Amino acid sequence: SKPYVYLTRKMPQNITDQLAAACDVGMWEKAEEPVPQHILKEEMKTADAVFCNVSDVIDKDMIDAAEQLKVIATMAVGYNNIDVKAAQEKNIYVAHTPGVLTETTADLTFALLMASARRIPEGIDVIKNNEWGAWAPFFLTGQDIYQARLGIIGMGRIGEAVAKRGTGFDMDIVYHNRTPKKEAEQRLGARLVDMDELLQTSDFVCVMTPYTKETHHLIDKQAFDKMKSSAIFINTSRGGTVDEEALYNALKNGDIRGAGLDVFENEPISADHPLLSLPNVTALPHIGSASETTRKKMAEMTANHILQALRGETPDYIVKE
Ligand code: GLV
Ligand code: GLV
Repeated sequence: SKPYVYLTRKMPQNITDQLAAACDVGMWEKAEEPVPQHILKEEMKTADAVFCNVSDVIDKDMIDAAEQLKVIATMAVGYNNIDVKAAQEKNIYVAHTPGVLTETTADLTFALLMASARRIPEGIDVIKNNEWGAWAPFFLTGQDIYQARLGIIGMGRIGEAVAKRGTGFDMDIVYHNRTPKKEAEQRLGARLVDMDELLQTSDFVCVMTPYTKETHHLIDKQAFDKMKSSAIFINTSRGGTVDEEALYNALKNGDIRGAGLDVFENEPISADHPLLSLPNVTALPHIGSASETTRKKMAEMTANHILQALRGETPDYIVKE
């Protein structure tokens, strides 16, 4: 019999067709609702492959209970939701989709940066709420983007793509990263600085690091205290890299000017989330890689990783702990 692949979310026909050529396909039939955890666990027991995404938590218990699983392929670059170590111990590949979503996610990061700097959501609200009154000299004045200092924490692929966009605005680019990125320095004019200098001097602070034990609450009260009171904080990586309560207090107390957030510690958030009560927060529902073209590529790449693993090949992009 054919190997069995389970998809945790409804995928377009071309993707299921691609898989059905070599596998029996099972799928959670809803596109907008995650599969319940107990169903996923049950499916994983007998599946040869799992096609998953950022909203699925795949823990050690589930991996240990899997009897013939060969690959966990996530339609994402981030894989903090998967116990990679447990998978590795059982020689199960964890595959992800780096590269294809880099530029799309950098676009969204820059969109958030610009929207926050120029207070675009507040402007939209003013119009929609019929509050556009007489001209006023300092009405909705924001922060300049051109020639401002862009501080990037985590200079990976997406960090570099954000920096590249910054060069078009004549920004002064500084970054902090575990290893120096000499090529990026030369190509983008970015300068490696220590964390304190980045926090203390940047007009825009962007976190672009993966979420790991080491980066949990990397941006905490101390970090916000160091930032300029005019600083704008941008996060399109993972919510867990930031202490949200500290962020709330920093915004509320005017320790920083604003924040643009595509990610939150517990997603999805609801409308009563404290951060949403602040006018200087621009919030989006984790749509960094959500362009039609990129999401299609991510899905195709994920299906391909599964087919590779089931043919006994190593998938193109696997992660290791
Ligand atoms: C999305 O957040 C991803 O990791 O691809
Ligand atoms: C993801 O592509 C990253 O390394 O930033």
